[in-house]
Amino acid sequence: MSNHAMDSNCITLTRHVLAEQKKCPTATGDLTQLLTSLQTAVKVVSCAVRKAGITQLFGTVGETNVQGEEVKKLDVLANELFINMLKSSFTTCVLVSEENDNIIEVETERQGKYIVCFDPLDGSSNIDCLVSIGSIFAIFKKDEDETPSIKHVLQKGDNVVAAGYALYGSATMMVLSTGQGVDGFMLDPSIGEFILTDRDIKIPSRGKIYSINEGYEYSWDEAIKEYVRSKKDPSLGKPYGARYVGSMVADVHRTLKYGGIFMYPATKDAPTGKLRLLYECIPMAYIIEQAGGLASNGSIRILDIIPEKIHERSPIFLGSKEDVQDVLALIKKHKK
Ligand code: AHM
Ligand code: MG
Repeated sequence: MSNHAMDSNCITLTRHVLAEQKKCPTATGDLTQLLTSLQTAVKVVSCAVRKAGITQLFGTVGETNVQGEEVKKLDVLANELFINMLKSSFTTCVLVSEENDNIIEVETERQGKYIVCFDPLDGSSNIDCLVSIGSIFAIFKKDEDETPSIKHVLQKGDNVVAAGYALYGSATMMVLSTGQGVDGFMLDPSIGEFILTDRDIKIPSRGKIYSINEGYEYSWDEAIKEYVRSKKDPSLGKPYGARYVGSMVADVHRTLKYGGIFMYPATKDAPTGKLRLLYECIPMAYIIEQAGGLASNGSIRILDIIPEKIHERSPIFLGSKEDVQDVLALIKKHKK
């Protein structure tokens, strides 16, 4: 196909999910419907992100625009979109959002069997300076005849049915796994569809980049200090490059594509790390493992942790298999 030709047989995200669904004879189509509603939310967020400055979405809640209407901050808008789209898909029963203190119960008449945990707009410190931000989600399931309860929300990552993220970067991309590898879909704004562009993404087994907020070095454990030092010491091998966007979605996406390691360890101020298990660590760990990488909290797999609270935090080390193994070996050595 030449660069100018229109593709008459392109694989959209919905087409891809439908094809996956057809492989499973008992599938009802609910997951396809759920993912369609998520896509709509992501498309609107993407559009809002791109126009945020013009439409005065920057700033704080409570401000009014020139028409005297209340301006919704981008993260409030994204949260409302995710909640409204998911509820109206008739496929969900409980939602967990980073923006809401408690679980969100879907009205009985609109209930379905899925539980969705999401961070509607991650990387909020980067919104106002136009650096990449993202949305993250993990989808769990309950048995159809069960009444939804907190136990369906506090599931370990191994029970994830599908997870992924949207990156609002130099282009908008959705990365998704339904348990058969990882695929990337680029938003084609001219037709408003996500098109399969990165099929079966595999993370390199070793990378050349480490990614951590190095400003907190003073408060890291000795193992992390030794690991990061080792990545900068030419006598221990070719030094790695350092990259840290400060938006988890962007840092994880780069790690997935180029390899290397992303870390948010425990610090003195945040003894269990900063990132949240249900809607940041678990979905990203799921994607990275599905792509052949590793994700750990320093001693166990992220996907083995059973969350006890919806906003529970966890330290995280994820990325290329060999790079994560290196840091885990040092953590083990220092524990002795
Ligand atoms: P947020 O949910 O308030 O946006 O915080 C999460 C973000 C992640 O995207 C990123 O990895 C991390 O916070 C960066 O934190 P720090 O500035 O401490 O390095
Ligand atoms: Mg977040």
